[in-house]
Amino acid sequence: MGKKALEQNLEKEAIKLLVLELSQMDGATFFSKLNDQIPEEQKAVFDKAINLYLNEHLPVQHIIGYTYFYGYKMKVSDKVLIPRPETEELVSYVMQTYDDVFGSQVVKIVDVGTGSGAIAIALAKEEPKFEVVATDISSEALDVAKENAALNGVHIEFLEGNMLDPLIERGLKFDILVSNPPYIPDNEYVEDIVKNNEPNIALFGGLDGMHFYDVILSNASKVLKSKNIILFEHSYSKKKEMEHLARKYFPKANVEVIKDLNRKDRFTIIINQ
Ligand SMILES: C[S@@+](CC[C@H](N)C(=O)[O-])C[C@H]1O[C@@H](n2cnc3c(N)ncnc32)[C@H](O)[C@@H]1O
Repeated sequence: MGKKALEQNLEKEAIKLLVLELSQMDGATFFSKLNDQIPEEQKAVFDKAINLYLNEHLPVQHIIGYTYFYGYKMKVSDKVLIPRPETEELVSYVMQTYDDVFGSQVVKIVDVGTGSGAIAIALAKEEPKFEVVATDISSEALDVAKENAALNGVHIEFLEGNMLDPLIERGLKFDILVSNPPYIPDNEYVEDIVKNNEPNIALFGGLDGMHFYDVILSNASKVLKSKNIILFEHSYSKKKEMEHLARKYFPKANVEVIKDLNRKDRFTIIINQ
């Protein structure tokens, strides 16, 4: 099985996670029982799940039905992007920049393109002073996000619509805007396990992958108070393009591109004081 997984560019770690999650044991307990006989019906459950991963190429998160984001459990399905670890870093940059710019004031935050709700929910859990609104164009994604908000016991206002439109229509104004919009260039190669299992609408961001940043930044002043913070996740190859767009629409802002833990230029923070 190990060899087959490696040949297919699949991960042994993923199979370990699957078996651990399905057996509901922590790692230490699991390994202490490694030589025990397992009941037939449990073996059948493991075999089915491993087969879905190895032969049907389903993401582990879809087989178990959830993932963890910023320590919080989030349901996922093929209607939403599976939240990625670098996006957890984006959440921590929101927290840090909020502390620097707003101290401990109550602020209104919007997460544009919320998908599973991961960013919005983590923020609402971490800081009770955040009043959180989250938008998405996909009503199916919003259904998942609403379930996740309930699962995590947070109140978030969810609005359906194209980018900032639902916010502009309601005349809403925010202190902080955060977004991880679709940013893969339309013609770029995407691995099958991603392309076949995650919504295309969550992945592709126009010919150069910059479409949604332009849409958001060109309209941002309509939904932001004069003192504000805008934070984006983006492709690591778009540092210059992000700086250019940020300066085009916010010439007086403090603009910074930050690397993720893998030392890739991954986040842009725009501060208007
Ligand atoms: C890259 S995913 C990010 C999901 C989630 N925020 C995260 O970080 O895991 C982008 C999200 O933007 C949504 N989206 C795509 N086009 C949109 C549009 N025109 N207006 C609003 N949301 C859109 C997708 O449905 C998807 O949920």
